[in-house]
Amino acid sequence: MDTVERFGVSMNPQLLERFDQVIARKGYPSRSEAVRDIVRNYLIESDWEESDSEVIGTVTIVYGHEVHDLADTLNDVQHENRAVIVCATHVHLDAHNCLETIVMRGSSSTVRGIADRLISTKGVKHGKLVCTTTGRELG
Ligand code: NI
Repeated sequence: MDTVERFGVSMNPQLLERFDQVIARKGYPSRSEAVRDIVRNYLIESDWEESDSEVIGTVTIVYGHEVHDLADTLNDVQHENRAVIVCATHVHLDAHNCLETIVMRGSSSTVRGIADRLISTKGVKHGKLVCTTTGRELG
């Protein structure tokens, strides 16, 4: 295991009390584990702000497959962007609704652009992009 460095953080007691309440509710075993997650999230967000950095994005969409041309349109967008799309999973939720999860790898602006296009397609009921990282820069 890598070595760790310790550092002190000054904080007013009210802020620290609220922080402790939240991390206890979320189940963190220690402040250190919570702070590590917060730092990792901050670093990932920074990666996404730099359009040239390689990122991983997972977009989940829910749509009705009976809407005219919708499934074809979503499929066309994916074929046009096959160099960025790693894989896609389709789930038939019920007789009318489908869910797709599409994993993409590329520059953050490209990944965000494809996700926006899928989510904004007429007939998509819900869509959300989860922005993450290749993990190489995180310990
Ligand atoms: Ni389906």
